[in-house]
Amino acid sequence: MTIHIGAEKGEIAETVLMPGDPYRAKWAAENFLEMPRLVNETRGMLGYTGTWKGHPVTIQGSGMGMPSLSIYANELIRDFGAKTLIRIGSCGGMQDQVAIRDVIIAMTATSLSTPSSGIFKEINFAPCADWSLLKSAVAAAEAKGTPTHVGGIYSSDVFYDERPDLNEQMMRHGILGVEMEAAELYNLAARHNVRALAVLTVSDHLKTGEALPSDQREKSFGDMVEIALEAAFS
Ligand code: ADE
Repeated sequence: MTIHIGAEKGEIAETVLMPGDPYRAKWAAENFLEMPRLVNETRGMLGYTGTWKGHPVTIQGSGMGMPSLSIYANELIRDFGAKTLIRIGSCGGMQDQVAIRDVIIAMTATSLSTPSSGIFKEINFAPCADWSLLKSAVAAAEAKGTPTHVGGIYSSDVFYDERPDLNEQMMRHGILGVEMEAAELYNLAARHNVRALAVLTVSDHLKTGEALPSDQREKSFGDMVEIALEAAFS
């Protein structure tokens, strides 16, 4: 047990999928894992462990934002021995060619700051995905026929942005979408020599103002979960 994860050692798999929303962890575990069981409910941040095609998998909520994700990813890696961590979440589309419901696989994650900024100081570290996971996720998305984009994303510190010029600069530089967690996941994976990837579903669009109605979310989020699972075990 750790401060934020009430599971016993051995109850967390080496492969962990991390949605921001704890209820999405429950939904993904119940719909995609065999024999899912609740292993963490500390602070309501639900975590489930089961198997997928016989492979042990944990699906643990990360909460919203990099400080929250940092708590769960640190404990999963340092205390429970997680070796492959894949964020599954939503993002806002930032380019014309990116449509609502499309999947974005994040090669890199730009940020203004992260919880690691304090140790990087003057270094602009480039947080990037694990190549083997990235390659396998792209292959899985292609095999499924899911409209998918691969490239840079922006991990923002804020959802309600008082500085729209930042998003504009991101769009100008080809960033595909904005979310709030991946950059720190990639930083931590580099620091601890484990594999990380972010597979995201576009839930809203900064250019068009469109947003995915809640009743249509499940099918598109399901593709993302399957892509993440295929990538982890290819
Ligand atoms: N996650 C989903 N949509 C987002 C947005 N527009 N900004 C930040 N994070 C998001």
